Amino acid sequence: MHSSDSSKAIGGISRDRIAQLRETEGAAFRKARPKSQAKVGNGLPGFFGGVPMHWMNDWPTPFPILVDNAKGAAITDIDGNRLDDFCLGDTGSMFGHSPPPVARAIRRQAGRGLTYMLPSEDALAIGPLLQQRFGLPFWQIATTATDANRFALRVARAVTGREKILVFNGCYHGSVDETMVRLIDGKPVNRPGLAGEFRDLTRTAKVIEFNDVAALEAALKDKDVACVIAEPVLTNSCMVLADPGFHDALRKLTREAGTLLLIDETHTISTGPGGYTRKYGLEPDFFVLGKPIAGGVPASVWGMSDEVASRYADYNRTKEPGYSGMGTTLSANPLQFATIRATLEEVMTAENYDRMDHLARRLDAGLTGVIDRYRLPWHVARVGARVEFICAPGPLRNGAQAETAHAPELEAAIHVALVNRGVLIAPFHNMMLISPATSGAQVNRLISAFGAVAAKLAA
Ligand SMILES: Cc1ncc(COP(=O)(O)O)c(C=O)c1O
Repeated sequence: MHSSDSSKAIGGISRDRIAQLRETEGAAFRKARPKSQAKVGNGLPGFFGGVPMHWMNDWPTPFPILVDNAKGAAITDIDGNRLDDFCLGDTGSMFGHSPPPVARAIRRQAGRGLTYMLPSEDALAIGPLLQQRFGLPFWQIATTATDANRFALRVARAVTGREKILVFNGCYHGSVDETMVRLIDGKPVNRPGLAGEFRDLTRTAKVIEFNDVAALEAALKDKDVACVIAEPVLTNSCMVLADPGFHDALRKLTREAGTLLLIDETHTISTGPGGYTRKYGLEPDFFVLGKPIAGGVPASVWGMSDEVASRYADYNRTKEPGYSGMGTTLSANPLQFATIRATLEEVMTAENYDRMDHLARRLDAGLTGVIDRYRLPWHVARVGARVEFICAPGPLRNGAQAETAHAPELEAAIHVALVNRGVLIAPFHNMMLISPATSGAQVNRLISAFGAVAAKLAA
């Protein structure tokens, strides 16, 4: 089954076979999309690189899927190909495309003004909803998770008077400059590929491996770190789960060092209605959630503890007057208020999460069954409604292992093959999300498409 020449194998599959699959699936993709190919086969006119946002070139398909519409957990292209959508806008549409309560809220707000730098009555409801759900007493609204992280880090530095932050190797928290560092052969460096970056970001950011308590203790001991920014599970470099006791150690050591703890739940909100934080009793100083919080409308929220809020209020009383460096004009607009409220009240419900979790378990078991059947050296990881197959043995313990496990060529071939079998998964790695709109039949189709692709690879 596996390549006889392992030096030529990726994830246990020979490079030749991967290349062959990529070619035949690429041809099948084009054949099914004559209209799309005519319109976007050579790029979208007027856009740099042929796409309105450069990530759209990162899909492994021969050209981007030109979407006609998306509804629930399905997406249809202009050629009429309907895909079961497990990418879900890589989490922005984690609760399905246009969830009905959110669509109603948009319609209601559409005739009442879209942005006015003033609160509406929906904002009155949101503050208490965020307090009850996520446990922190003071909140702010921004437009992207990137911004929410940036603003929270600014507060952390302001109140601690410390310049450094600490991140885990392999992290992604949006395009936050300070987090763009990596460990390469154990050495902190600027993340490879950064455009136009002349600064040495490792001057103000420390980077250690996830799950490494000894390294954490050493990095915090000089008491110069303002804040640790962490996902509770590393979701952006394959999927790395926390070791038992890791979060307890993280909280204990940060408290002892006077370092604040920011938990970024933008992806791990898949865990449950209160995120990983509520499910596992984490006690962050800051909590950040972007992407799906307004059901697909751009919005993010960030919360802070009583203690941080009071230190920040003291800081503001003494700081020189002037712009804080936080905030963007369209943040906290009435469309965000209306859609965040609808999402919290009617979409992020315990019932919806139960359903998502149930189907995610089924997906996990189904994919694992396929991997076992074909004796592939792969594994599946899951955090609630977020499932990922990884084309390497597991579980993974840190970002360095995740980097090695990543198999871009193989993953690209699998992704296109899945699209040709009616299934869309996230382009950057092998992430699949279950939404409240996802059906059991869609999950079954994904498992059988994955089985068909695995059979081809393993034949
Ligand atoms: C954990 C996490 N935080 C923050 C972000 C940034 O989100 P946005 O692109 O909406 O700013 C991402 C994006 O993938 C993320 O995965």
